Amino acid sequence: MEYFEELLRKPSLFLDEGKLDINYIPDRLPYREKELSLLSQLFLTLITNPNSISRKILITGRTGIGKTVTIKVFGEMLKEASIKRNICIKYIHVNCRKERTSYKVLIKIIRLINKNFPKRGYSPQDLLEILLDLLNQQNIHILIVLDELSYLINKGEDLLYLLTRINDDSTNVQQRVSIIGIVRDLSCLNNLDYSTISTMQRNIIKFSNYSRKQIFGILKYRTHLSLKENVLSKDLINMIVESTYSIGDIRYGLNIIWKATKIAESRNLKVIDNECVRLGSQELVPFSTLDILKYMPSQKLFFLLAMIKGLQISNNTDISFLEISKRYHIICENLGLNPRSSSQLWNYLQEFKRESIVLINVLSEKIKGRRAMIQIPEINLLNLEKIIIEILRLKGINI
Ligand SMILES: Nc1ncnc2c1ncn2[C@@H]1O[C@H](COP(=O)(O)OP(=O)(O)O)[C@@H](O)[C@H]1O
Ligand SMILES: [Mg+2]
Repeated sequence: MEYFEELLRKPSLFLDEGKLDINYIPDRLPYREKELSLLSQLFLTLITNPNSISRKILITGRTGIGKTVTIKVFGEMLKEASIKRNICIKYIHVNCRKERTSYKVLIKIIRLINKNFPKRGYSPQDLLEILLDLLNQQNIHILIVLDELSYLINKGEDLLYLLTRINDDSTNVQQRVSIIGIVRDLSCLNNLDYSTISTMQRNIIKFSNYSRKQIFGILKYRTHLSLKENVLSKDLINMIVESTYSIGDIRYGLNIIWKATKIAESRNLKVIDNECVRLGSQELVPFSTLDILKYMPSQKLFFLLAMIKGLQISNNTDISFLEISKRYHIICENLGLNPRSSSQLWNYLQEFKRESIVLINVLSEKIKGRRAMIQIPEINLLNLEKIIIEILRLKGINI
């Protein structure tokens, strides 16, 4: 019974495995200097002339290209610069996929200023007023980052509407709130009212995809931080760059490096070899997808499972909406659950599209007889199926 002792005696290949964690914020962000510099220029007034303006910025770009991490680094920079000058600027980063309602988001923001604020008993409008009072009383400017903002917009929530209008009706008052919204693409804004769109669209920073060379640079940098020297060769990094580039999400590469290192350690190797990388790449579902699946309602998971099963059985690259719906109904029947309506299923499909899980080729938009062919392009179906079944199992649903 000396497992720990034995493991601890083994020399590790990691310097610090935490630095491969997708939530780790590195000191440097190669290839995002331009974006950081642009953000600093845009927010400079907050420091030179506090509370004179309220900035509203929108960040766009596909998944896994450093939007979140860049804004987090920027938030820290802004905080530091303001502390040095005795200006009170608070920064809060909200992930709208996790804090699913305006109410939760507002509570979170208020609690940043007043830790003991009670959770219940207020409407969003009340909360907004309380927030403004607090900011005024304590002479604070707050930068609110609404990450994965599309999750709030698509629920018909009016938080953005409220936030973008704070102070709008009064000139010569202190501007207390700045906003950075992060979205994958601008199409989700279509559901907003015109004036919110135009406010948010005034400043858009589009993050471009990383090139192969840039992905190499980033993975090499993260390897340097987290693994001992020469554990992962340049050639193998290049191999990981290829698959990361085709998926486009840096998280994917970070995760392969982590897994390959673990595999090498378990085999008592001194360096990572080809086989470790191959095995490490095999069972991966892109991390962004994994994260999305974890928060997905069960019914939506059933629908996705129906899609996967349909694709597996037919062996085609795409499947019709109708076919998925049929299979979904069978799953519900087997579980003794009421199926969701067809239009709800259609909404799920649109959400999958936004989450980059599926590609949809719409043949006809008519409500009755919606015709669309759907693909799951980037993810290994078998792995995806396994993961969904596991997530459902954790929720107490056995399929
Ligand atoms: N330029 C970079 N340097 C180092 N790590 C990066 C860089 N860009 C992205 N990453 C890492 O890649 C992962 C994905 O970045 P993230 O900001 O979460 O992407 P997005 O928000 O665009 O989906 C994170 O773990 C992040 O630390
Ligand atoms: Mg992000």
